[in-house]
Amino acid sequence: MVHLSSAWLLGGPLGLFLMVPVLMAPTPSSLCTPLKTLNDSLSYRKRYMKHNFPINYGIRVHYEEIFKLSNISWMRVNVEGLDELTLQRLWFQVNQGILKKLIRVMPERHPSRRYTAELETRLRDAEGVFVLAHPAEVFQQELPESVQDIWDQLTEEPEKVSSWRYATPKSLMDNLCRTMHCLFSECFTTEAQHDYCDRSHWRKGKKNVNTKS
Ligand SMILES: *[C@@H]1O[C@H](CO)[C@@H](O)[C@H](O)[C@H]1NC(C)=O
Ligand SMILES: *[C@@H]1O[C@H](CO)[C@@H](O)[C@H](O)[C@H]1NC(C)=O
Repeated sequence: MVHLSSAWLLGGPLGLFLMVPVLMAPTPSSLCTPLKTLNDSLSYRKRYMKHNFPINYGIRVHYEEIFKLSNISWMRVNVEGLDELTLQRLWFQVNQGILKKLIRVMPERHPSRRYTAELETRLRDAEGVFVLAHPAEVFQQELPESVQDIWDQLTEEPEKVSSWRYATPKSLMDNLCRTMHCLFSECFTTEAQHDYCDRSHWRKGKKNVNTKS
């Protein structure tokens, strides 16, 4: 009897304590706030990532840093045991690396440097929420082998990389933006249902212009 009642007494406050972290931990949907902030910043990408650079200026990136919608659809079909969380982790990893590279090649007084640093901060803020919103164990799970290979390439020392690709800052930011909409579509859906993972969604604007002219 005594045992039972003390357990019951404990249950009250203990239950409360247990609930506090649950209530305070960000949920996957709280990720939408920082991602939308990032999306807002990305709307200036043409000005800062194209106009402030020489025409066709490309930065040197890893093959794996060209991470587009087509990569996502290819991986969804071909990588066994791939889940959305893995793709989302890869997205953060790839784009954090790209933004760091961009900042590194810009002189201190480059007119796009502050903008790029802001994107980097916002991506990092989103990543912080992303990490807190999931149990730590999920980040320790083994990645599918082909994803692990990509991961290893991304973190390879520059002198060990045998071939590079060149990409314009604007195209890299377009990839970042489109794949963000695709992988975190629950944050970006409006009443009109869009398939952000479908490349034709992003071409629509351009196509209309072409058919009108
Ligand atoms: C994302 O940014 C674009 C402009 O680049 C804007 O049209 C769109 O409404 C934004 N989406 C959200 C959910 O904030
Ligand atoms: C995406 O696809 C391109 C071309 O097919 C490839 O070079 C690149 O490594 C892929 N990126 C990732 C992250 O898989």
